[in-house]
Amino acid sequence: MGVFLALLPLLPMPTTATLKLPAKELSLPVIVGSEGEQAVDISKLRADSGFITYDDGFGNTGSCQSDITFIDGDVGILRYRGYPIEQLAEHSNFVETAYLVINGELPNTTARRRFGDLLRDHAPVHADMEHLFQGFPMGSHPMAILSALLNSLGCYYPHLATNNPSEDLANFEEASAIAISKVRTIAAMSYRKSHGLPYIYPKSTLPYCENFLHMMFSRPGEDYTPTPEVVAALNLFLLLHADHEQNCSTSTVRMVASSGANMFASTAAGVCALWGPLHGGANMAVLGMLESIHAEGDDGTKFVEAAKSGKGGHRLMGFGHRVYKNYDPRAKIIKASFDKALASLGIKDDPLLNIARRLEDAALKDEYFLARKLYPNVDFYSGLIMRALGIPQNMFTVMFAIGRMPGWIAHWREVAANPKNKIYRPRQIYVGKTKRDYLAIEKRA
Ligand code: ACO
Repeated sequence: MGVFLALLPLLPMPTTATLKLPAKELSLPVIVGSEGEQAVDISKLRADSGFITYDDGFGNTGSCQSDITFIDGDVGILRYRGYPIEQLAEHSNFVETAYLVINGELPNTTARRRFGDLLRDHAPVHADMEHLFQGFPMGSHPMAILSALLNSLGCYYPHLATNNPSEDLANFEEASAIAISKVRTIAAMSYRKSHGLPYIYPKSTLPYCENFLHMMFSRPGEDYTPTPEVVAALNLFLLLHADHEQNCSTSTVRMVASSGANMFASTAAGVCALWGPLHGGANMAVLGMLESIHAEGDDGTKFVEAAKSGKGGHRLMGFGHRVYKNYDPRAKIIKASFDKALASLGIKDDPLLNIARRLEDAALKDEYFLARKLYPNVDFYSGLIMRALGIPQNMFTVMFAIGRMPGWIAHWREVAANPKNKIYRPRQIYVGKTKRDYLAIEKRA
């Protein structure tokens, strides 16, 4: 059965594509994005032909139109709302970038102050929420706690979680400030809980990142005061994670939002999707990999060979990306900022960092990695930065979640505010048993 897809006219900007099916030829509209990306619109394909498309893992499927983030993975470009990530990394900070990602424009002085005030006002959690932490057993993974407690925000703020998108959108400013501010407080409390430490409450005088570090590392009666370099490294880490278009967790947020679910429920689902080692969990996995290479006395050579053979499920964690077929621009920025942060922390010769550098050098010269266009992604170095800041390994993915919250919120809003929103509901190719009759238990093999 032959299926043939051709773009007509060929160049420069086709407006239709022709799909030749066995019994039918279809003219399909072509959509062109603001950066020239082209897509064949198949939204009427099934109705017009009975066919669906098959795209395992959605690698070729545009699931929405979005004006939040642009990525060109072939050349390594990442822009939030049009602004290159390199410029934001140099001139902005996490809170300002969060505002940009959520609202579409950089804030003026008044808007910036108002946003900061809202974040400050919403930093503490409801006193009853502390009881929820007590219900988790010691050693609970902070990602599980984070997802559960984010979802529970809908119980504490029912007027912001009505599951009626227009009502929830009417209170968007408050809900988004609560989500951005409290994700950090909940994260710090989950760390304190898992280590059996008393909670440290937020201070209204401290900016976002300083306040987070205070809630993590201060002791009763003894404040933790980070160096400016440490604050800058944390700001940079969070800013670089603020959005990344239709990745696994963001697509999850959009999928949940498409049913009309509120922002807290949708972002809590994003946390769950982020947890896996192929996504946000990779930063933990990178550290685990570096530690085991170090413990085995390997200089990385054996591990690279194992990753190439794929034996034992080995992969070079922190390498490869579904979209980037070039150096991940975020990895470049993090790597370049390393030395300053490490020097300020008095870290001179980190054996894990040395292994990471050797692994990178080896992989970037190796035909296996070159042929598959596998380059370091943001997670390759971000775990090392987190470790240098004193963040424990099981909190790395939580840190990613704090950073990604603005993106999830912006995507939730895009779905909720879309008057043409359709519930996300992919189709499948069924490959199971065809119809058969029920068999009584005594007749079963
Ligand atoms: N180490 C060794 N080989 C790899 C790696 C790796 N890290 N990544 C991909 N490959 C190989 C695959 O085995 C495959 O080889 P083959 O063609 O011989 O079968 C080829 O490269 C293509 O790999 P896919 O898994 O098909 O690529 P996909 O786009 O589906 O996966 C992913 C991307 C999941 C990121 C993958 O590269 C990976 O597992 N990397 C390690 C985990 C990681 O770092 N994840 C973080 C992603 S970034 C983020 O979430 C912020």
